[in-house]
Amino acid sequence: MIPNLLRDATSNRLREFAFGNADFEALRTLVKQITGINLSDQKRELVYGRLARRLRALQLRSFTEYRELLSHDGGREIAELCNAITTNLTAFFREPHHFDYLREHVLLPLSADPAANRRLRIWSAGCSTGEEPYSIAMTVLEAIPDPHRWDIRILATDLDSDVLERGRRGLYAADRVRGLSPQRIARFFAQRQERDGLYYHVAPEVASLVTFKQLNLMHPLPMKGPLPAIFCRNVIIYFDKDTQRDLFARVSRLQRPGQLLFLGHSESLFKVSEEYTLIGRTVHRRA
Ligand SMILES: C[S@@+](CC[C@H](N)C(=O)[O-])C[C@H]1O[C@@H](n2cnc3c(N)ncnc32)[C@H](O)[C@@H]1O
Repeated sequence: MIPNLLRDATSNRLREFAFGNADFEALRTLVKQITGINLSDQKRELVYGRLARRLRALQLRSFTEYRELLSHDGGREIAELCNAITTNLTAFFREPHHFDYLREHVLLPLSADPAANRRLRIWSAGCSTGEEPYSIAMTVLEAIPDPHRWDIRILATDLDSDVLERGRRGLYAADRVRGLSPQRIARFFAQRQERDGLYYHVAPEVASLVTFKQLNLMHPLPMKGPLPAIFCRNVIIYFDKDTQRDLFARVSRLQRPGQLLFLGHSESLFKVSEEYTLIGRTVHRRA
């Protein structure tokens, strides 16, 4: 059935559901409170588009009904709202210089140190569908020749339960692995022909190093330090400065002087944290 379309007063667009200022303001306040994500006015259409799908799936007739559901269903739809709003863009070995830096400055020195306690913890905060933590795991396996004699854990966390599920599955369409070298594909993936095309499954030696867990960065951080490396890339761009300050005050307690924090290409700790020194392209060292 073709839905009746309404003309939106703010954008002058034809819409399936009325989406007034009050709807947008209420949703953006809720999203900010729960996730820290700051939705600018430019995100209005994106919010409408992503949530109109939720209204259809729930067979609701208006955003007023949707807002009522959000406040009365005991938090279930809030999780779906967060999943719908987050931006999950990622790739294997995205910003490859970070993985080179990790290998040269953390993994190779550690692996060459006979006194090392052979325990390694790395955190991928905002791991999305798993490409980042699996890239860390591959880098670890390439740098440490005897990983079975080490206690290695790459903790991969995200707020979005859908992306975590995909990360755990570790199955990627052929175009997702296109940028990887043939050597890495041969060593770290198994090909799988599915009905809709060719897929690549992360090999058990890679998957066994990664643990996926749901974690909202606005909540207390349950992990124990020290963490020689933290990847928190392309997550804080959506947070305002106060939220960033609060987050890195807590993150910095998980690291000892000299340990590394990797941010995304357009992110910085300028006026956010004095606990870190910038030492390379978006690479920070705990002071
Ligand atoms: C653009 S992706 C970045 C993925 C990966 N780090 C990278 O750089 O390729 C941002 C991720 O941050 C997650 N995120 C956003 N707000 C969050 C929060 N408050 N707590 C935890 N994760 C959050 C999103 O769900 C999304 O998967």
